[in-house]
Amino acid sequence: MLVLGIETSCDETGIALYDTERGLLSHTLYSQVAMHREYGGVVPELASRDHIRRVLPLITQALAAANCELRQVDAIAYTQGPGLAGALLVGASISAAMSFALNIPALGIHHLEGHLLSPLLSTPAPVFPFIALLVSGGHTQLMQVDAVGHYRLLGETVDDAAGEAFDKTAKLLGLGYPGGAALSQLARQGRPGQFKLPRPMINSGDLNFSFSGLKTAVLTLLNKQAIDDQIRADIALAFQDAVVEVLTGKSLAALTQSGLKQLVVAGGVGANEQLRRNLSRKASAQGTTVFYPELEFCTDNGAMIAFAGAMRLQAMPESARQPARGFNVRARWNLEMLETPKPD
Ligand code: KG4
Ligand code: ZN
Repeated sequence: MLVLGIETSCDETGIALYDTERGLLSHTLYSQVAMHREYGGVVPELASRDHIRRVLPLITQALAAANCELRQVDAIAYTQGPGLAGALLVGASISAAMSFALNIPALGIHHLEGHLLSPLLSTPAPVFPFIALLVSGGHTQLMQVDAVGHYRLLGETVDDAAGEAFDKTAKLLGLGYPGGAALSQLARQGRPGQFKLPRPMINSGDLNFSFSGLKTAVLTLLNKQAIDDQIRADIALAFQDAVVEVLTGKSLAALTQSGLKQLVVAGGVGANEQLRRNLSRKASAQGTTVFYPELEFCTDNGAMIAFAGAMRLQAMPESARQPARGFNVRARWNLEMLETPKPD
């Protein structure tokens, strides 16, 4: 079965074609980052309008790259939530229209389910069950992934996401948006131990995170002294040390608590070299394998939505595979409320 995936939940338009026999055939992506940079963050209305401009040309491109025609598509999978309502509506409405016109089902996919299953698109792929650390601009969560549709939230941020904290701190340090990569670049010049920032919630006894206090701590440091390039780099390193130590500590605790031996790191912050080094070193010391899927599958993309759709389609009874009769989106949507697919 051939599934067309459509991701429009935030600032990336992602399209993909996934075949249940042949695997991922193609995927195309347009990132709006350059457009939003001017405003220092994602502007929802601009995001929706840009998705409208990109989505059909990207579908045409993805079909051409896969050497397929639209009429060969057996089902559409689109991100139904969570995300920006207007942006989600673009993918949902196009999917509903195509589903109706082609007389094929349209499946609304939970964006985080896409992220959680995306490591299975990479090689080597983890096998169920595994722990996933999702760290992006929008999410910071530790999940146990037992099977398709079986996800357990172990812990999450109580305020800012890790990537959001990187971006806000980067802004305080005078770096552009999104600033995570630039901050980690700057941290390379930092002198270890020059400043020490708190490790929020490291001893909270649960697997939750809190990152909003760190940017305030950085602001206090910045206001306390004359700032030159070296001090900025020292502060960047101190901030990164704190985030990496907390993410590593909680991930290892999740592995210990669950008794599982595989950790998958997904999301843009997973690109952070210090996080990778630290996690790999500490995890291998306790006999755990850490998987870092290719960045193109870690950050928002259409492939993960097509893949999650294909998994769900296969698990669906034939009778449920009906074309759309309408559409709705879920800007807020708890992953644990997801229905588990039930095979025939
Ligand atoms: O997964 P992603 O593309 O999803 C979102 O759209 O949220 O993640 C983007 C986030 C941004 O906050 C960015 O600053 C952060 O990932 N990021 C990094 C690095 N590269 C990207 N954070 C820390 N270190 C990096 N090297
Ligand atoms: Zn995402």
